[in-house]
Amino acid sequence: MRLLVTGGAGFIGSAFVRLALREDWAARLVNLDKLTYAGNLENLTSIEKDSRYRFVQGDICDADAVGRLLEEEAPDAIVHFAAESHVDRSILGPAAFVETNVRGTFTLLEAARARGIGRFLHVSTDEVYGSIEEPLDADETWPLQASSPYSATKAGSDLLALSYFTTFKLPVIVTRASNNYGPFQFPEKLIPLMIANAMEDKPLPIYGDGMQVRDWLYVDDHCRAIQSALSKGAPGEIYNVGGSMALPNIEVVRRILDALGKPASLMTRVKDRPGHDRRYAITTAKLERATNWRALVDFGEGLRRTIDWYAAERSWVKSVRSGDYQNYYQRNYAGR
Ligand code: NAD
Ligand code: TYD
Repeated sequence: MRLLVTGGAGFIGSAFVRLALREDWAARLVNLDKLTYAGNLENLTSIEKDSRYRFVQGDICDADAVGRLLEEEAPDAIVHFAAESHVDRSILGPAAFVETNVRGTFTLLEAARARGIGRFLHVSTDEVYGSIEEPLDADETWPLQASSPYSATKAGSDLLALSYFTTFKLPVIVTRASNNYGPFQFPEKLIPLMIANAMEDKPLPIYGDGMQVRDWLYVDDHCRAIQSALSKGAPGEIYNVGGSMALPNIEVVRRILDALGKPASLMTRVKDRPGHDRRYAITTAKLERATNWRALVDFGEGLRRTIDWYAAERSWVKSVRSGDYQNYYQRNYAGR
C-alpha cells in the first residue's frame, strides 16, 4: 500500500509512521506536515533514512501543493492526522482550528475526490460527542455535542468527510479515539505536562476539582486501530477507539507522582477550563467486531513506558519547552 500521512511529525502521526515502516504496513509512505509548534522531525529520526519514506513540509490548506503531491505519489490511501489538537489553545485562539481542521480537511477531501483515492481515513476524537453522563458510554450513533472550538471543528470535519462518502462515494472511514498518551506527546496535554512538571518539581495545575473523567488509550494501540480500520473497515463507517481505562484526572496525576516518587503537595488546584467536559466514555465494540482489534497495553504498563521515556529524553523535553512554549504556558496558566 502507498500511503500519504498528514501530520506525521506530531505525536500520534509520528507513532503511526514509525510503526507503519517497522511493521511493513506500507510500501511507500509520504508524510505531509506543516511543522507547526506541535510538529517535530526529531520524532522521526529512527526512520528518516528508510528508502520507503519521504517527508514533505507543507500545509494541508494549500490545494496546489496537495494536488501536486497526490499527482507525484499516487497514494492508495490517505491517513489524515494533521490538526490543531489542543483544547486550551482552541480557547485562547480558535482561528487556526477552523483553518486547519475544517478548511484543511476540506482541501484534502477535494484533492482525494479529484484523484479517486481508494481510502481516506479521517482521524477524529471522542470529544465530538461532548460530555457523557455516567453510566452511559457513547457508541458511534451518539449525537454530536462538541463543547470546545477544538471539538466543534473536529465534528465539522467528521461530517464533511462523511458527506464525501454519501455524496461522492469517496471511500471515507472515520475513527474517533479517546485520550492518547505515550512517548513524544507535546507537554501541553495532561499526562506529559504533569510528568515534565513533576520531574522539575514544578506545580501540577489541576483544573477545577480534578474529577473530570477521561478514557486513556496508549498511542500504539490507537495506531494499530487505525491500521485495522484502514485495512478491514468498511467505507462510510465510523469506528470508536477506546482504551477501556476511564479515570478521573486527579487519579492519573497521583499515579504519576507515585511513579516518580514526588510529593502530592505538587498538585495545585487552578481555575477550571471554560466549557470543560466532565466525562468522556465510549464503546469500542464495533471496531472490535469488525476487525478483531483489541487494546493491548494496559494503563499501568503504558504509563510506566511513558514515564521512562520522558525521564530518558530530557533533552527532547527541554527543546520543545523552550521558546514559544513559555509564552503559551504563561498565557494559559498565569491568570489561573
Ligand atoms: P499533534 O498536535 O501532536 O500533531 C499535529 C500535527 O499536525 C503536527 O505535526 C503539526 O505540524 C501538523 N499540522 C498542523 N496543522 C497542519 C497543517 N495545516 N498542514 C499540515 N500539517 C499540519 O496532534 P496529535 O495529538 O498527534 O493528534 C493527531 C490527530 O489525532 C488529530 O487529528 C487529533 O484531533 C486526533 N486525536 C488526538 C487525540 C489525542 O489524545 N491527542 C485523541 C483522539 C484523536
Ligand atoms: P487534555 O490532555 O488537554 O485533553 P482533553 O482536554 O482533550 O481531554 O486534558 C485532559 C484532562 O486533564 C482534561 O479534563 C483537562 C485536564 N487538565 C488539567 O487538569 N490540567 C492541565 O494543565 C491540563 C493540560 C489538562
